[in-house]
Order: sequence, then structure tokens, then C-alpha cells
Amino acid sequence: MDRRFFSKFLALGAGSFGFFQAAKGADDAPTLSRSLPNEGLIRRGSDNEHHLQTEPVNVYDFQALAERTLPRATYEYITTGSTDEITLRENVEAFRRIKMYPPLLAGVDEIDTSTTVLGEKIAMPICLAPVAGQNLYHPEGGLAAARGAAAMQTLMGVSSSIGHSVEEIAEASPCPKWFQLYVPRDRQIAERLVRRVEDAGYKAIILTVDLGERKDADRRNRFMVPHHMLLKHLQGIGFDVNDKMTYDEILAFNDNAWDPAISWNFFDWLRARTKLPILIKGVLLADDARHAVELGLDGIVVSNHGGRRLDGMPASIEQLPEVVDAVNGRAEILLDSGIRRGSDVFKAIALGAKAVLVGRAYIWALASDGEEGVTKVLGYLHEELVSAMFATGCADIKSINKSFLRM
Ligand SMILES: Cc1cc2nc3c(=O)[nH]c(=O)nc-3n(C[C@H](O)[C@H](O)[C@H](O)COP(=O)(O)O)c2cc1C
Repeated sequence: MDRRFFSKFLALGAGSFGFFQAAKGADDAPTLSRSLPNEGLIRRGSDNEHHLQTEPVNVYDFQALAERTLPRATYEYITTGSTDEITLRENVEAFRRIKMYPPLLAGVDEIDTSTTVLGEKIAMPICLAPVAGQNLYHPEGGLAAARGAAAMQTLMGVSSSIGHSVEEIAEASPCPKWFQLYVPRDRQIAERLVRRVEDAGYKAIILTVDLGERKDADRRNRFMVPHHMLLKHLQGIGFDVNDKMTYDEILAFNDNAWDPAISWNFFDWLRARTKLPILIKGVLLADDARHAVELGLDGIVVSNHGGRRLDGMPASIEQLPEVVDAVNGRAEILLDSGIRRGSDVFKAIALGAKAVLVGRAYIWALASDGEEGVTKVLGYLHEELVSAMFATGCADIKSINKSFLRM
């Protein structure tokens, strides 16, 4: 198998075929889709007008706005999942299957949603997941997202492939930041990057380990990232590329730049080079979680990459209980994939997550309205969480537990 094939396994920016084979044919104006919910599969030309005639009030409204705002290929790059999108749909459906049982007359009059993740105090257990290519979705891209996180006093996972350098994101926003690492083949560049992440004041490093993406929509749309964005991304990481290189040369460079074959040993390499806490993102099984704990990792993100990796993997929320059991308090556990409502956040916390990461939810909002969109969507998720806490009589995050749920 050739290298180009392997490089497809890494997400956008770490050499993703999907992302960097970029966006031609992306300009046909999208029509509206029926989007309550419109997970993944694109159903166009239907009756969802009401989402756009009023202020957005939830994640799905922002999805509808993003669909109207973005070129079709870009919207589909964000929204769709791998192959048959079974995992993408399951992520959302599995949350809906969990029923809530609020006790009667357990009133509370004040609710505190603040918590900590790996020692960072945040105003709510809802953080931004690392997402690649944000300057494709909004002119200010990740800078605007980072400002939105600061406005809502929460934390941002910053993708290696976000589109701005580590330093640019750090300067844009005082929110606590965790850097999500895709690993350059050249370990000197990797080491320098880790140093820069530390110098820029990031609080932890997330290593994303779930690889293998094949999204039909992106192939159909011939989704590609423009030359200048790919160049800026690679330069931001510290690769020696310049604007005299043709697009094909840059694509070829990118294909070879990243290491798609890291193993558990890589954590030893990383641990020897940083004192920052380390999280592993992409865990679904008890054995892998135990392995991570034995390696001394500080955090585990239960995730199937929002259904963008191997299709057929189970919903993250379904795997959370077995990971929580296996870890038994020895590392902090976060969850992502499928969060669309504050009640989903409540369910994840009840089943043992310290906090959740949201991906598409804030990216749709970023595309619709930049920093303000991100701030608003986080605000709506927060309000929905507060409403669930109010209904269940949970005055604070530590009061949320699984007695309120039936699976
Ligand atoms: C457009 C897009 C790009 C993404 N890029 C990355 C990435 O660069 N690194 C990473 O670890 N995860 C990436 N993810 C996955 C998210 O971090 C997260 O796991 C996922 O979005 C959660 O599912 P949700 O979108 O249903 O909330 C990306 C997700 C999306 C939607």
C-alpha cells in the first residue's frame, strides 16, 4: 500500500486526503435541509424554513444556518460521517435512547455548573473539541472559536490542523487550551512543536489515536483545501515549505509529513519531552483504557471521532460505562461524539464523564456567526444543561449521577 493511501488515515491537516484534496465544485448554493435532526445524510430542498426565520435557539438551528452559509462541499465535509454513517447516527440516537427520570419535588434554587478538568476550572463541563480547518468555515476561523470559548469561560481543544499556529491561537484568547497533536514523521519537528505548545501556555496535550477516515461526500465533492491554507497549516507546524511550491508538490509533501503508524510506545517519547498532562483521544474499550492508565496518562477521551472514522464503531456514550469501570478513578474521562443538547451533557456526566467536548455543534455556529455564534451555541447548551439539572434537583455537577437515567 502506498504512502498516499496511509496518509488518508490521518485527519485533515495531519495529511488527510479528504481535507487536502480540496474544495473544487464547492460553490453550488445549498438549499435548505430538513434538519431536526439531520445527522450526516444530506436531505435537501425540504421544509426547514422556520429554522432560518428566527434567531437560532439550538444546535440544529445553527446547523441549518451553516448549511445555508457555507459552500456545499465544506458543509458536507463538516457534517457527514464515514461510509454509511451508521456510527454518526448512532452517536445521536444512543443519547436519545437513554431516558431521564427526575425525582419529584427535589427543588433547587441555585445551580452551579462549574467544574474542573485536569485542574483547570471551567464554568461548565462543555469544552470545544479539536477541529481541523477552521479558517475554511469562517474568515477568523479558530481565533473566533477560541474567543467564544473564553467568553463562556470554557476550554478549547486546539487541533494540529486548525489553520492557525499554536501561537496565534494563544494570542487570540485567554481560554485554557489543550493542544491536539498529530505526529510529524520528523521527530525534531514534533519535539519543537511540543516545546512551542508549552511556551505558548497550553495546559495539556491530546494525542488523537483513532485513524482511518473514508467519507463518501468528500470524495463525491472532490473536497480540497486551497493552496494557501495548506501551506499556512504546514508552515504553522514548522515544516519547511514555501509559496514557490506548486499545489501538487505541497500535497505530496503533506502526504509524507505525518506519521500514520505510531504505537503505544509514542507515549514514552512524549512523556520524556513534556511535563504537561497527556490525554489520549479515541478510546472506546476497557482494555485500551486500562493500557492508557498503566502508561500513566492523565486523561482519556472516549470518542469515535464523531463517526468520521471506522464506520460501525459503537456510539461513544454506549462505551462510556465500561471505560469508567476500567479506569476506576485513575484518570479523568471526557467524552465526545453526538452531543447536540444539554441533556446529552447531563447524561454523559451522569455516566462518569468529567466533561464533554462538542465538535460539529460549535463548528456549525462558527460558520454561521463567528465568535458570536460559538458563544451563543455554548450558551444554549449551557442553558439546556441547567434546565436538566433544575428538573432533576442537581444543584451542582457532582450531584449528577446515574440514578436519574435508565438505559
Ligand atoms: C470538521 C471536523 C474536523 C475534525 N478535525 C479533528 C482534528 O483535527 N483532530 C481531532 O482529534 N479530531 C477532529 N475532529 C473530531 C472532533 O474532535 C470530535 O471528536 C467530534 O467532532 C465529536 O463529534 P461531534 O461532532 O458529534 O460533536 C473533527 C471533527 C469535525 C466535525
